[in-house]
Amino acid sequence: MYCTKRITDDMSWVGADDRRLAFFEGVYGVPDGVSYNSYIIKDEKTILFDTVDKAVCHNFFENLEHELAGRGLDYLVISHMEPDHAATIADVALRYPEATIVCNAKIKTMLQNYFHAGLDARLHVVAEGDTLSTGRHNFTFVMAPMVHWPEVMMTYDTTDKILFSADAFGSFGALNGRIFSDECDFMHECIDEARRYYTNIVGKYGPQVQAVLKKAAGLEIKLVCPLHSFVWRQGFGDFLEKYLKWSSYEPEENGVLIAYASVYGHTENAANILAAKLCDRGVKVKMYDTSVTPASYIVSDAFKYSHLVFAATTYNAGMFVTMEQLLHDIAAHNLQKRKVALIENGSWAPTSGGLMRGVLSGLKGTEFIGDTLTVRSSLTEEQLGDLDVLADAIAESVLPAKPAAAEVAVSAEGGMEGIFEVDSKAFNKFSYGCEVLTTRVDGKDYGCIINTAGQITSSDPKKITISCIKANHTCDMVAKAGVFNISILSEDAPYDLFKHFGFQSGRDVDKFADWPDELRTENGLRYIGQHTNAVLSARVIDSRDCGTQMLYIAEVVEAHVLSDKPSCTYSYYHAHIKPKKAPAGPAVEGWVCKVCGYFHEGPELPADFVCPLCKHGPEDFEHYVPAVVNKKKGWLCTICGYFYEGETLPADFVCPICHHGADAFEPAEQ
Ligand code: FEO
Repeated sequence: MYCTKRITDDMSWVGADDRRLAFFEGVYGVPDGVSYNSYIIKDEKTILFDTVDKAVCHNFFENLEHELAGRGLDYLVISHMEPDHAATIADVALRYPEATIVCNAKIKTMLQNYFHAGLDARLHVVAEGDTLSTGRHNFTFVMAPMVHWPEVMMTYDTTDKILFSADAFGSFGALNGRIFSDECDFMHECIDEARRYYTNIVGKYGPQVQAVLKKAAGLEIKLVCPLHSFVWRQGFGDFLEKYLKWSSYEPEENGVLIAYASVYGHTENAANILAAKLCDRGVKVKMYDTSVTPASYIVSDAFKYSHLVFAATTYNAGMFVTMEQLLHDIAAHNLQKRKVALIENGSWAPTSGGLMRGVLSGLKGTEFIGDTLTVRSSLTEEQLGDLDVLADAIAESVLPAKPAAAEVAVSAEGGMEGIFEVDSKAFNKFSYGCEVLTTRVDGKDYGCIINTAGQITSSDPKKITISCIKANHTCDMVAKAGVFNISILSEDAPYDLFKHFGFQSGRDVDKFADWPDELRTENGLRYIGQHTNAVLSARVIDSRDCGTQMLYIAEVVEAHVLSDKPSCTYSYYHAHIKPKKAPAGPAVEGWVCKVCGYFHEGPELPADFVCPLCKHGPEDFEHYVPAVVNKKKGWLCTICGYFYEGETLPADFVCPICHHGADAFEPAEQ
């Protein structure tokens, strides 16, 4: 009997769950099952997006037949040729001989290789940007090479703003009767399996994922329909944020993953003692025995955590087999930017440490903490001290730096020495104004512009709130540090100061590298002494996730008036500080950020768009339409979609995204 799910008035899911599959791709255990998604749209023409694995083809055909209700199938769109989605293509072609198969050139080759079925006459081959109409719906095809295979393409329904995202935004785990991600608490219940799916399936291809995310950023998207797991109709930003982290190899959490390979328990013992010492120091630790936990779970957590410890015994003059498999998996998935410590064990000739170091040092951005700790059969009493040294070094790297001792600061404005008290008059400087939010993590200072600080209680300890755009790096840093300073800007603040703290990210630059003074409150946090009239230093006592913003409630521990100049209100900033004119308009249609002047190219601004410079949303953008829209001539990389602008492509040109040569490019206009 059929089992379908309605997604929109004219679109249904006709896929199936599979809970009998032991190993996805023959290697990744799926204890919670997996779904194979296929979608049918019944427009003037009918169009099916992808098929399913052969294990569930019976359910799929019952579903499809039910939804078609006697109608024929006009189009089958193939997004991806991996057999978990493509195994039943030839059967669809047989059952629906009138159906045209929509694919790209790479898929055409793979169809021949897989099916040898003479389907060529039924193919409609599309390329980047090609369109197809089924009546009310208009579709545009978007190439997504290496997410997860080179032939992958996505389809964007420009009518209903639906992105058929192929493997992207999928997850392990059966649907269990649901279809939308908001029918469960996805970010808590499902995110671990989504991470394991992403890291193990497409983790290797971070730059290609980033390239596709960049393309998708220009689209208004109301539904995301992946080939596995749930359809997204709300809250997609949180999942997208994870994808941005995973694909750029940024850790999600400051903490330590310890993976150990131990034959008789002595290496495990050293790992356990190190874990205990790290926990004593306040470090979050997750441990795995590589002989027990399949590598895919450990790879997934290696993407999650900032610090990794590997402990392995020596075996056959190499590293123990399960550790060898894990490290090669981690290397194969291209993990980057991790801080690593090593423990080796060897009764007569320890070699595992050097071998582990050899594999991991090949990964971009790996930093080793301390020397490899060598255990000879079992840990000695004296080596407990060595583990203390290692735990200290790891903890120092993981935990936010303790603020430096108070510095006697000389304010350029007030000439005040040291600031150690809470001056109530500082609170009078609050308005709906502009502030520089600063904090300090791992010995580095961070800052950004906010306009959301205010007092909420006047009894001691006085409390204030701030909210901060989550996309701002400083927002994350405040969460880590638990303390922040607010420097309230006065009307004499120049636009350059707003640009310096507001229109660049602490992820990319050190905003304090060349800052002209070294002013700090007693807890060691920087504050801005010029063009400000007060500084308040506060300790976070509560926070609330407000969607795009984090709200922090904090107790003020220091407050000082710095000058008697009027506070710069938000309206004063717009009226007198922000340049009146946006940058000269380009020759293409787009949207101009009224706050910072950033130009977003394209006729439509996605509802959840966030300005990459100042992080403001669509409400702060205004539509810009040029007198004449000219297309740029150039060359399109057929592998990754990168566009090179210019009449002639240099013969030795190499694509900066996918590194293919000039022969992979074809003339194009954008
Ligand atoms: Fe779900 Fe790459 O196939």
